[in-house]
Amino acid sequence: MNNERKDLLDEIFDKALSGRSLYKNHDVLRSDYIPSKLPFREKQIVAIGEALSPLLHGSKCSNLLIYGKTGTGKTAVVKYVLMRLEEKASDQGLKVRFAYSNTRIAGTEYRILADVAHSIGLSIPFTGLSIGEVLNRIKIAINSSELRMVFVMDEIDFLVKNYGDDLLYELIRVNEQLPHGYLSIIGISNDLKFKEFLDPRVLSSLSEEEIVFLPYTADELRVILYERAKMAFFEDAITEAAINLCAALAGSEHGDARRALDLLRVSGEVAEREGAKRVEEKHVRIAVQKIEQDRMVEALRSLPLHAKILLWSIVSLGEANSTGEVYDRYSGICRKNGIESLTQRRVTMLLSELDLLGLIATNLISKGRYGRTKKISPLVQLQFVKDVFSEDPVMGSIL
Ligand SMILES: Nc1ncnc2c1ncn2[C@@H]1O[C@H](COP(=O)(O)OP(=O)(O)O)[C@@H](O)[C@H]1O
Ligand SMILES: [Mg+2]
Repeated sequence: MNNERKDLLDEIFDKALSGRSLYKNHDVLRSDYIPSKLPFREKQIVAIGEALSPLLHGSKCSNLLIYGKTGTGKTAVVKYVLMRLEEKASDQGLKVRFAYSNTRIAGTEYRILADVAHSIGLSIPFTGLSIGEVLNRIKIAINSSELRMVFVMDEIDFLVKNYGDDLLYELIRVNEQLPHGYLSIIGISNDLKFKEFLDPRVLSSLSEEEIVFLPYTADELRVILYERAKMAFFEDAITEAAINLCAALAGSEHGDARRALDLLRVSGEVAEREGAKRVEEKHVRIAVQKIEQDRMVEALRSLPLHAKILLWSIVSLGEANSTGEVYDRYSGICRKNGIESLTQRRVTMLLSELDLLGLIATNLISKGRYGRTKKISPLVQLQFVKDVFSEDPVMGSIL
């Protein structure tokens, strides 16, 4: 066993030593890398720059609302402009400060405020204070140091959908209570509909200015990818055809630069693992499948228990079963394992969630003069589901 493992590893290491790496700089393909050039976003860069520049001569700047689909460059552009402004401000010795929080990653109102606090050097305990107390400490700090602050709330739709707009309301009102210093907000959202969740006063204040990021065209994605590929790979280590294919595939949905760059990165990894001399179209095709598979595994893993049991019922029944048959199988499995089953109504809701995730298909089948009936089929392989679910202790014992 030991020897066998050593031989396998030897083989991997020898391959790494003999073959040259395809990458000149792997880091530039990381999702948080901010390139120094952001083509096709000049208009947005100028608009955000102009909105923020009053800070440089001590005036207030407007709040901004930025929206556009994922991968349209919102986060990269905002961080880029702030970085440049920060350099300018510190050259001039101005008390301008920035705070950034991705509300989805922060997860709670408390952690969002803790992100603000940390950016101005306040230490806030991990838990224990009330939201009001944290907000108060932030206000006092801004006021006493006469700071001009910009707070970027990225993926702000997460905050609003999960916690409402109370925190935003408080933050917008902070200015009325600060005689020296102030706070502006830049909200970034992937979803325009979140505006419906806002109180009209919060909305009008937050969207003093609005900036839209439209999806990239396939041609634009191609230019972005060429730039990045030049930095990431050695010359000749990637073919034009491979880059074009990544751009075309990512452009066929909604012009998502993140997806295009993910494809480029994974294609490179596939080619390198194969010991290939350059990244070619065939590696991109494997990368597409690999990314899709990873997405599926993630989707399966994060299902709640009852959704897992329900999906397992559908997969084990096979093609085209009625909702009634699925429900019977589901409640049978629950009963056998001493788990209380959900009502038919809740199960119907779970079914539409599984459908949205692309894990099952729901088709209406005509039964002639008896009308139409709903048939449910799995879109994932039984063995695949079994492999992922058996990592889960409860599902493991059910299987
Ligand atoms: N115009 C551009 N030029 C170069 N890279 C870009 C451009 N727009 C986006 N990217 C890259 O695409 C990825 C996704 O962009 P991001 O700003 O995170 O999108 P969003 O925040 O809109 O979801 C990032 O890695 C970013 O560096
Ligand atoms: Mg973003």
